[in-house]
Amino acid sequence: MAAPAPTFSLLTRVLHWLMAAGILGTFALGAYVARMEVGLSNLWLFGLHKTIGISLLALAMIRLLWHRLRPPPGPLPGPPEWQMALARLTHKALYLLMFAVPLSGWAYASATGLDVLIFNRFVLPPIAPVSELWEARLLLLHRTLTWTLLALVALHVAGALKRGLISRDGTLARMIRG
Ligand code: HEM
Ligand code: HEM
Repeated sequence: MAAPAPTFSLLTRVLHWLMAAGILGTFALGAYVARMEVGLSNLWLFGLHKTIGISLLALAMIRLLWHRLRPPPGPLPGPPEWQMALARLTHKALYLLMFAVPLSGWAYASATGLDVLIFNRFVLPPIAPVSELWEARLLLLHRTLTWTLLALVALHVAGALKRGLISRDGTLARMIRG
């Protein structure tokens, strides 16, 4: 792996904000469609959720690869060690969930037995057995993981805002301006 760069590169920042907006939007859309009766008129919303969700999985792979090529800078010093450790742990968990959430959605959609159609054109191969038991288990998994992701994002945003608005130590600014 290369040595850490002194600043967040443009690609790192674009990926960070694009994925943040994408994940929060997909979360809201998922929670919205989950309350609807599936019908011909709203089927496209389910397709949109899957399409954006799978695109986010692809972006997560690009992000991880890019970080291997160009590791981001270490955290700016200042907060007590336990807060630094919590931030590191949260970043790792966020990475894990950037993969686990869309994969669990794909697995759940496979277990329903319906084609997992994305971009209105491509059918993804199934990655879970088709059965009511798997369908119920995987929906629960997808739900649990998405809510865990949301809770961690809330913690992450609280930390970022504390450093950006209260400590004003440049942490938020360098993720925005580099
Ligand atoms: C970052 C990506 C994703 C996020 C944040 C996300 C979020 C969510 C949320 C919050 C729900 C509602 C859960 C509930 O019932 O409370 C949901 C449902 C669902 N998601 Fe995802 N999801 C993502 C990716 C995917 C992917 C990639 C697929 C499939 C290829 C998928 C398929 C589904 C399906 C089929 C439902 C259930 C809708 C229904 O009730 O019929 N999701 N998702
Ligand atoms: C779904 C939403 C989000 C996810 C998954 C996420 C994920 C991450 C991850 C993994 C990092 C570590 C650097 C990297 O690998 O790119 C990071 C850094 C950062 N994030 Fe987020 N983020 C999200 C939303 C936000 C929001 C809304 C804010 C601002 C309010 C924010 C502020 C920051 C800042 C300031 C850093 C740099 C921390 C440092 O300098 O060490 N993030 N984010």
